[in-house]
Amino acid sequence: MINKIKVKNAKIIKLQFFNDFPDGNLVIGEEKKSVPFAIKRFYFINNLFNKKAIRGLHAHKKLKQIILCVNGSFELHLDDGRTKQKIIMNDPYTGIYLGSKVWRVMKKFSSDCVILVVASDYYKESDYFRDYQKFLKSVNE
Ligand code: TYD
Repeated sequence: MINKIKVKNAKIIKLQFFNDFPDGNLVIGEEKKSVPFAIKRFYFINNLFNKKAIRGLHAHKKLKQIILCVNGSFELHLDDGRTKQKIIMNDPYTGIYLGSKVWRVMKKFSSDCVILVVASDYYKESDYFRDYQKFLKSVNE
């Protein structure tokens, strides 16, 4: 995993968990506590069997999210327009908060990888930067 975030508008979120060994772990996120926004949506991504899959390739204008790797591993590449950082996501108890204008690319998924995303708003295509040059221009405005 990681212990320091270098890119802007991103931070590490540590989730509270209970070790109920041998009966599992219980992991908790709560609005305005570990999750620094009101939650309107969650989604998860599974069936990541394609070794060449690349996801993300976008930034958001306003949306706030927490990205969690609840099983397996993947690489999360972040870019705030100036600084780039690669994070190995392999710890289900540590999420990455992403605020506005952070370009993200997700790749190198293990086949058992499951990604959970918690978001501050409903899906709106108009909130996406999908063009890297337009994203850079907006960051430098
Ligand atoms: P996208 O956010 O680009 O996925 P990722 O960043 O994981 O690669 O979304 C992929 C597609 O799914 C895109 O066509 C929009 C659609 N989508 C929804 O309809 N609702 C949602 O909540 C999300 C996240 C995506």
